[in-house]
Amino acid sequence: MKYCFFSGSLRKDSLNTKLLHMAVKHVNCPPSAIVNLNDLSIPLYNGDIEAVAIPDGVQKLAQIIDQAQAIIIASPEYNYGISGVLKNTIDWLSRVRPMPLKQKPLLLMAASPGQIAGIRGLWHARVPLEGLGNYVYPEMFSLGNSFQALNESGFVNPDDQKRFAAILDGFEKFSKALT
Ligand SMILES: Cc1cc2nc3c(=O)[nH]c(=O)nc-3n(C[C@H](O)[C@H](O)[C@H](O)COP(=O)(O)O)c2cc1C
Repeated sequence: MKYCFFSGSLRKDSLNTKLLHMAVKHVNCPPSAIVNLNDLSIPLYNGDIEAVAIPDGVQKLAQIIDQAQAIIIASPEYNYGISGVLKNTIDWLSRVRPMPLKQKPLLLMAASPGQIAGIRGLWHARVPLEGLGNYVYPEMFSLGNSFQALNESGFVNPDDQKRFAAILDGFEKFSKALT
């Protein structure tokens, strides 16, 4: 499976990007399959910018997504909803033709220091993604109390590791059936 990964957090020490590195390892992908949105310098969506040209960073991400069979996103919840970084990225991608998210299998994950684990942000993310025709995997992975639940070598609790592996394996089957 050719996956593309990106994080809804731009932070260097992001917990969500850490989850992506663990996912990359599990599915045997190179760490380079994680797109660092910081490198793409995607501006805030502005119709005036679009009227001139879709920014290079957006085109590049669209191309990477187009060449991938499946997408895995890990994103924080901000103020009970989707992170602005993720929503802005989706908004720009929705302006590219052909639209790269259409009929692409996608898995959502979240890590949060809080107990609710970022799941509300993922439910918000489903709305634009499903609206755009993404095949969003029904199950989502969320990890609460992440500063305690993760260490350098991965999950502290083996049950979290099992849950993580099961969802990634299920998503791989789902994606293969659709591509
Ligand atoms: C503006 C802002 C709003 C936040 N709102 C929430 C929230 O609603 N729920 C939550 O679980 N964490 C919330 N947090 C805490 C983030 O989950 C935490 O900063 C997390 O580490 C961000 O993800 P990252 O580590 O991948 O950067 C918020 C953080 C910020 C900066």
